Formats: sequence, structure tokens, C-alpha cells
Amino acid sequence: MTVKPTVLRDLPADLEREKLPRHVAVIMDGNGRWAKRQGLPRIMGHRRGVDALKELLRCCKDWGVQALTAYAFSTENWGRPLEEVEFLMMLFERVIRQEIDELISEDVRIKFVGNLTSLPGTLQTEIYRSMNLTQHNQGIQFTVATNYGGRQEIIQVCREIATKVQQGKLQPEDINEALFEQHLYTVGTCHPDLMIRTSGEMRVSNFLLWQIAYSELYVSDTLWPDFDRAEFHRALCAYQQRDRRFGKVN
Ligand code: IPE
Ligand code: IPE
Ligand code: MG
Repeated sequence: MTVKPTVLRDLPADLEREKLPRHVAVIMDGNGRWAKRQGLPRIMGHRRGVDALKELLRCCKDWGVQALTAYAFSTENWGRPLEEVEFLMMLFERVIRQEIDELISEDVRIKFVGNLTSLPGTLQTEIYRSMNLTQHNQGIQFTVATNYGGRQEIIQVCREIATKVQQGKLQPEDINEALFEQHLYTVGTCHPDLMIRTSGEMRVSNFLLWQIAYSELYVSDTLWPDFDRAEFHRALCAYQQRDRRFGKVN
């Protein structure tokens, strides 16, 4: 992961710079419930959710978090009503188009992970364009999981490795954790140190199953559209109190 040191802005005094997570992953949940509470259609929650994500990205960059990975659409989310799925695809496309100039000027490197080939063609065009235009940026690595499933990712890795074994390029005994990681979508980015889920749900819903083996989990009751800097600050404070043992004894 090549991320240049950033000038930190406004890091709250009670946070220790050296103990910040390098990589934060977020399951942005609760858009539908947020909208329902306001008496609005679910899609309005997704719309507001984009603002919350923009704010979190800005905050991560300001405070010196090197990588942010956000779960935007799971492989299971295709099971939602067609109009919601279509709205989300349209929203993703529109947001990338609207935000690309700012991503470039803010030195954000954007990457999309997931099974991108089954997304609408016009969305794929925006996705690849945004990845190409920001590929040399070094301010922050921003990964968006779109049509992403942890199980699907692991199966994809197995297929790629099995093909190499079949072709004689690899021996079964060459397969180890390091080799496996080379085939994950997230190659080149360290594992998440902190994984946040909003809306109070205590589950991982098929997100980054391999990569979160030793992530610290933080669940906020706040619904995603209301997740702001103060909430992120609370999550980071909680994270900095954790004793990360990685199976060892301190
Ligand atoms: C998360 O919010 C956004 C996506 C999964 C796209 P939800 O849409 O899951 O909101 P709730 O969980 O129904 O409130
Ligand atoms: C997880 O939220 C997926 C995203 C945030 C994109 P869901 O709302 O789909 O998860 P479940 O159904 O509550 O497990
Ligand atoms: Mg949900």
C-alpha cells in the first residue's frame, strides 16, 4: 500500500496519532430504517447515505487513516425489490460521475471490488474510468465493495489458484496464506484494523471474510445516514482502548 504521509487536520486531542487504525472498513447499514423513520421511501435513505460516506472519507483523510473500505452492495442485495436495486445502480453511477473531479483533486485513489462484470455496463464504464483516473493518487486508498461477497471472493481465489495448479504453474504445496492473499481483490491493502457496522446489527453479512480475521469490531446503533464525525470519533476512541493480542499473551 503506497500512501504518502498526509498533513493531519483537526485530529481530536484525545486520539493518539500513532494508534490510529491504518485501514477502516465500514458496513453502511440502516439506510432503509432511517428513511422509514422520516416517513420517506427507502431510496431517500440511500441518497443520504452517500453524504455520510463522503463525510467519512473526508474525515479519514483529514485524520490520517490510510485506507477506507465501504460496503455499498452485497451479492445478496440483488434479492431486494427491483426498483430499489435499479435505484442503487443508478445512484452509484451518478455519484461516481459527480464526484470524480473532487476525488482527483483530493488525491483519493478509488478502487471497486466485487464481481463487477455483472453490474450494468454504464456503471462499469464509470467504475473503470474512475479507477484509471485516480490510480496514481496517494492521499488515501478508498475501496468500494460493489456486488461484493466474501464467499464469492474466496471461491474466485480458489478458481484462480486451481487453474494455475492445473496448468502446472503452481504445486499444491505452494498454496499458503501469502499466495492466497495475492489473489484477493484487496491485494496491496493491509487488512482492516477496525470494522464498523452501523444500525446495531451484530453480524458481518458476508463482508471481507478473510480480511477481518483479526479486525476489531465496532457496532454503532446509529443508522448510517446519521453516522458523522462525532460517531467516527467515538469508534476510534473505542478502538484505541482495545488490546489487540492476535492470539498472544501480553
Ligand atoms: C444499507 O442500508 C445499504 C445497502 C445495503 C445498500 P439498508 O438498505 O440495508 O437499510 P436497512 O438495513 O434496511 O435499514
Ligand atoms: C450489508 O447490509 C450490506 C451492505 C451494507 C451493502 P444488509 O442490510 O444487506 O445486511 P443484512 O441483510 O442485514 O445482513
Ligand atoms: Mg440493512
